[in-house]
Amino acid sequence: MQQLYKKQIIVGISGGIAAYKSADLVRRLQDQGAIVRVVMTSGAQAFITPLTLQALSGFPVHTDLLDTDAEAAMGHIELARWADLVLIAPASANTIARLCHGAADDLLTTLCLATKAPVAISPAMNQAMWHNPNTQANLDTLRQRGTVVIAPGVGSQACGDVGPGRMPDSEVLVDAAIACLSRGSMQGVRVVMTAGPTREAIDPVRYISNHSSGKMGFALAEKLAEAGAHVTLISGPVSLDTPARVDRVNVVSAADMLDAVQQHIDSCDLFIAAAAVADYTPAQVANKKMKKGDDDMSIALVKTTDIVATVAALSNKPFTVGFAAETNDVVAYARGKLQRKGLDMIIANDVSDSRIGFNSDDNAVTVITADAETHIEQLPKRALAAALVEHIAPLFWRTHNP
Ligand code: C5P
Repeated sequence: MQQLYKKQIIVGISGGIAAYKSADLVRRLQDQGAIVRVVMTSGAQAFITPLTLQALSGFPVHTDLLDTDAEAAMGHIELARWADLVLIAPASANTIARLCHGAADDLLTTLCLATKAPVAISPAMNQAMWHNPNTQANLDTLRQRGTVVIAPGVGSQACGDVGPGRMPDSEVLVDAAIACLSRGSMQGVRVVMTAGPTREAIDPVRYISNHSSGKMGFALAEKLAEAGAHVTLISGPVSLDTPARVDRVNVVSAADMLDAVQQHIDSCDLFIAAAAVADYTPAQVANKKMKKGDDDMSIALVKTTDIVATVAALSNKPFTVGFAAETNDVVAYARGKLQRKGLDMIIANDVSDSRIGFNSDDNAVTVITADAETHIEQLPKRALAAALVEHIAPLFWRTHNP
């Protein structure tokens, strides 16, 4: 079976003696069914000619960012969108540094900034350059931001040194490409989530609840599952279908929700509290329907347990994400909750805005961590959920090395 059948792969070649091996790499990717286009830096062209790569790939080789003819044929943004994967092999120390700093001073780096496809790099360089702390720091940064770094081989080098820095054989790089393309950003992550409202019984026929529809939580569960996560969705009463490949546990009250979370939390890596949990519950539940009298009545309420704070306080706590629905000073209140509840991330939204409020189909959020704040503009809840997954993934992996 061709494991890269019809996958569109850009092979980026930067300047290094290992560039001669890239010709074979193009062939081996094609053996697996991939459609390959090649982008070369100016340094790469000192080691191997574009003509060789053009003959092998069957496409003109892309070399220039500011070439009118090349842009008219397939511009850099079009190329960035075309790619299912960008595989840079060899990735020189210079290219790694430029990628790390978000440079866009040639076609290859610009493409990497513009693409939504995964980027994998195969560093190849002299062993001293590989060991240099600058190179290692750049690689760490790239890894944290989601670039796949393929470990170099160890052995004798073209310059006579012995050590790490050799570009691996094509088979290893092809396997890495297959792994990148079959892996969602949350592959194998065990997620427990809460969603929807809770209902706090007053008597057998009445309850206290809220307007949460559960749409945002369910959309997030769906997108996490699509990204390869195993999702257990603990849901309050909502009228929504369970997303594909999601395990659903139905609960009613805040106490039920806490119980269900505690039963599932031990084996999870990521906990997301999207439920609108009641903050108070009647101190006593009447076992018969309460009768209307002539006088006003009051119901004593007691506080519920804060589920997300309970999870965040566990000694083996998962990466913990909360939501904050606010009507004013959204970011400031959300940041306060992040700290008070001990969360790793909080997703804040302004429910005073009716376009993105509780029952609407759209949402816009600010994602807040201890050291960053990112605004995601108004989108349909499913599109927003997809954007959130891509935002959560690298931050999650930073704390959970595979
Ligand atoms: O404090 P507040 O209710 O505004 O915080 C909202 C966040 O806390 C949400 O992530 C919500 O799911 C979570 N929460 C909880 N248990 C509660 C109350 C809120 O997990 N009892």
